[in-house]
Amino acid sequence: MPVPHPAPISGHSYSAVELVVDRDAVVMLDQRLLPTEETYYRYDTVEQVAEGIRAMVVRGAPAIGISAAYGLALAARSDRARGDFMGEISRAGELLAATRPTAVNLFWAIERVTAKCRDWADLGHEERSRRVADEAIAIHREDVEACKTMGAIGAQWMPEDGVVLTHCNAGALATGGYGTALGVIRAAIAAGKKIRVLADETRPYLQGARLTAWELHMDGIAVEVITDNMAAHFFSRGEIQAVVVGSDRIAANGDVANKIGTYGVACLARLHEKPFVVAAPWSTVDLRTADGSGIPIEERSSEEVTHVGAKQLVPTGVRARHPGFDVTPARLVTAIVTERGAATPPSNATLAAIAPK
Ligand code: MRU
Repeated sequence: MPVPHPAPISGHSYSAVELVVDRDAVVMLDQRLLPTEETYYRYDTVEQVAEGIRAMVVRGAPAIGISAAYGLALAARSDRARGDFMGEISRAGELLAATRPTAVNLFWAIERVTAKCRDWADLGHEERSRRVADEAIAIHREDVEACKTMGAIGAQWMPEDGVVLTHCNAGALATGGYGTALGVIRAAIAAGKKIRVLADETRPYLQGARLTAWELHMDGIAVEVITDNMAAHFFSRGEIQAVVVGSDRIAANGDVANKIGTYGVACLARLHEKPFVVAAPWSTVDLRTADGSGIPIEERSSEEVTHVGAKQLVPTGVRARHPGFDVTPARLVTAIVTERGAATPPSNATLAAIAPK
């Protein structure tokens, strides 16, 4: 089923999230059902949007931030906001902020929209809800543009002809469109490079196997899926020339939180002297967090480890661990690529040099 929007901002035939044309609802692609089903839900309230984020109907740091902005746009239109605008906006912001802890884009988007709402609180209901929707759409459009810009910058670390490893899904599905890590790959291919992709399956949620493979295959980009424990083998054979991943939060010193397993990939890239590139919009950079030790790591259900769908893998009574993210120290990262430029090697100084003044 195509995205139920005549001109999706994503620029693809599908979108992780869009505000519907008359701006009174949000549509979300249920990423839990991919790759076998492309199903969209229509959400009319901020409560439904928050539940969509919590339940990972939508996921990926920038896409979560955009979804939260759209959730606030729905809250601003609601009857409750007609009576108590700022009360409703802060209630909605708190609801959205409680969904997932690691991706800072969520909090960034809530803060950005809430600050604008304060400026617009004295306007009439129609005018201020129109402005909130415009702001959310602007966040979405800026994210797509940022992905394209960082793609063009990051392409320099991609091989002319070779294999690039990626982990999790940092593509169009995880952003407003185009993707961060997959945007770098898309831009490198558009610039004439011959790139084949190895996608880590990304246990336990399988974002690589299900989502990265789906969207690259849709684009006709050569992609093969490997289980996470195969990456070392392919590095040892010289079959991987570079790594590119996204991020959920980047600390002021350049430490990078991303999907669990990323740190191991970074260690392999360093051992095998290959570039390890992180692509993320500036909204992922959290200068208020000094280093990776301050980044909250989401603990997810151990059932996602003990089971695959309905199939139980682990003996009854045995518990499993499931941190959703890990932190790669800045010293293992070749470059952090943002739409504002690249911090290379990442450090307080190189990130500060590209920060907004
Ligand atoms: O748990 P998820 O699927 O939301 O985690 C997503 C990731 O870790 C992505 O790699 C990250 O958000 C970058 S997305 C452009």
